[in-house]
Amino acid sequence: MGLFSKWLRKLRFGVLTENEMQQSQVKSEEIPSGDNIPEHVAIIMDGNGRWAKARGLPRIAGHHNGMKAVKRITKAADGIGVKVLTLYAFSTENWKRPKAEVEFLMKLPQEFLSLELGELIENNVQVKMMGNRDLLPDHTVAAVEEAVRQTRHNTGLILNLALNYGSRLEMVEAAKQLARQAVAGELDPDKIEESDFEKWLLSCGLPDPDLLIRTSGELRLSNFMLWQLAYSEFWFTDVYWPEFSEEHLYDAIREYQRRARRYGGL
Ligand code: IPE
Ligand code: IPE
Ligand code: MG
Repeated sequence: MGLFSKWLRKLRFGVLTENEMQQSQVKSEEIPSGDNIPEHVAIIMDGNGRWAKARGLPRIAGHHNGMKAVKRITKAADGIGVKVLTLYAFSTENWKRPKAEVEFLMKLPQEFLSLELGELIENNVQVKMMGNRDLLPDHTVAAVEEAVRQTRHNTGLILNLALNYGSRLEMVEAAKQLARQAVAGELDPDKIEESDFEKWLLSCGLPDPDLLIRTSGELRLSNFMLWQLAYSEFWFTDVYWPEFSEEHLYDAIREYQRRARRYGGL
C-alpha cells in the first residue's frame, strides 16, 4: 500500500492497522453482544398486507406469515439478551379495517399462543399485554390472559403484546385517573410529576424502549408509545414484516450500538 493511501485509511479508520480493520469489519457482522444490547426493543410490525399483495395472496396470508416472524424475532431477541420485546399487533385505529380482516387478526393471538405457549414457557418468557381490553372479543382476551397467567412467574424475556393499543387513548385514560385522584383529594394538581402520570400508563413497570423498529418503509409512529419513545433510537427498514429476519434485527441492533444517546446532555 502506498504512503498516501495508508495515510488516507488512517484518516478514515483512525489508528487501526490493516489487520485490525479486517477484524473490525468481520466483527460488525457478528451477532450483537456486549453490555450495549438494548434492554427494551419495540417493533411496529408493518407491511403484512403489501407482502401478501406482492405475491398475489389475500391480506390475511400476510398476517399469517407475520406470525412466523413473531416467533423468529422473539427467539432472536431473547437469544441476544434483550429483556423486553414489545410488538405492536393491533392499534386502536385498526378497527377501521374490513370486518373479516379484523376478525382474522383477533384470532391470531390465540393461534400464536396455542402453537407457541409451550415453547415460550420452556424458554422462561413472560407474556404481557398492553392495550384496551374493552373492545377486544372475549376469546382474544381469554387466550392472552391465559398466557399471561401461565407465564407470570417466568423471569426471562418479557414479550409485551400491544393489542388494541393506542397511545392517545392510553394518555387520556391516565389523565382521567389523575383527575379522579385530584377530585378525591388524594393528589394536589400542582404537585403532579411525570412519575405520577407514568404510573397510569399501560407500560407501567417496563423501561422505556431503547430501540424502535418499524418495517415496511413507513416513517411514522401511528399512535404508538408516544410518551415512552421520547428518547428512543429509531430504525426503519423497507422490509415487510413477514420477511423480517434475525439478520435484520441484528442490523438494527448493531446500528443502535453505534449511536450516541445524549438525552439532551453533551
Ligand atoms: C401490519 O401489517 C399488521 C397490522 C397493522 C395489524 P398491515 O396489515 O398494516 O400491512 P400493510 O401496511 O397494509 O401492508
Ligand atoms: C400500525 O400499522 C399498527 C400496527 C402495526 C399494529 P398500520 O398499518 O395500522 O399504520 P398506518 O395506518 O399505515 O399508519
Ligand atoms: Mg400497515
